[in-house]
Amino acid sequence: MKFFIDTADIDDISALAETGMIDGVTTNPSLVAKTGRAFTEVIAEICAIVPGPISAEVTATEAEGMIEEGRKLAAIAGNVAIKVPLTPDGLRACKALSDAGTMVNVTLCFSAAQAILAAKAGATFVSPFVGRLDDIGSDGMELISDICEIYANYPEFGTEVLVASVRHPMHVIEAARIGAEVVTIPPKILRQLYNHPLTDKGLAAFLADWEKTGQTIL
Ligand code: E4P
Repeated sequence: MKFFIDTADIDDISALAETGMIDGVTTNPSLVAKTGRAFTEVIAEICAIVPGPISAEVTATEAEGMIEEGRKLAAIAGNVAIKVPLTPDGLRACKALSDAGTMVNVTLCFSAAQAILAAKAGATFVSPFVGRLDDIGSDGMELISDICEIYANYPEFGTEVLVASVRHPMHVIEAARIGAEVVTIPPKILRQLYNHPLTDKGLAAFLADWEKTGQTIL
C-alpha cells in the first residue's frame, strides 16, 4: 500500500519524507492557495523532495486548456501527475495526456460509474473522496470497496485506486483492509497513525526499569 501526503506545505513534506513512509504527494488548488506561494515553484520544490508521483491540478475547465496546462505542469519534473476533474472534458484531457505518457490523477470521483470512466480514459490514479461522501451521509468506504471489486474484474484497467479526502486513521485502516493501492493522508492524520497510549505507557515502564539497572548499551 502506498502512502501519499495530501498537502502543499513544504515543511510538512520535508519532515514526513524523512520518515521513509511517503511514496508521493497530492495537492489541489485549495491546498496550494493556503501556501500563498507560486504554484509552479511549489510543485518543483515538492518534486525535488519526494521522488514518487506529485499531483498538480489543472484549473482550466475545457479539455484543450487542461491539456495545455497539463503539458506545462508535466514539464516541471518527470514525477508530476496531472490532476484533472472527473468531468467529460477532464476525461478527454486524461486520455490525451495519458496517451502521451503523462501520469494522470482523475480527481473528485464520487461514484463507481465515474471510476469506470476514469479507468477507460487511461487514468493512472482515480481519487474517490471518502470524507466528503461521509459528510453528506453516504458511505465513502463502500465506494472504495465497489471500485476495487469492479477494477479487479478487468485486469486491463491499469488505474490505481487512490483513497482521498481522508479524515481519520480508520479511513486508512479500512482502505488497507479493502486493498486500495494508495491512500493520500493529511499530515496530521499520518502522524496520528503512530500513536497508541499503550506504546507510550509501555516505553515509559521499560525505560524506568532499565534506569534501575544502571547499565548502558553503548
Ligand atoms: C485529494 O487529492 C484531495 O486533495 C483531498 O484529499 C481532498 O480532501 P478534503 O475533502 O479534505 O478537502
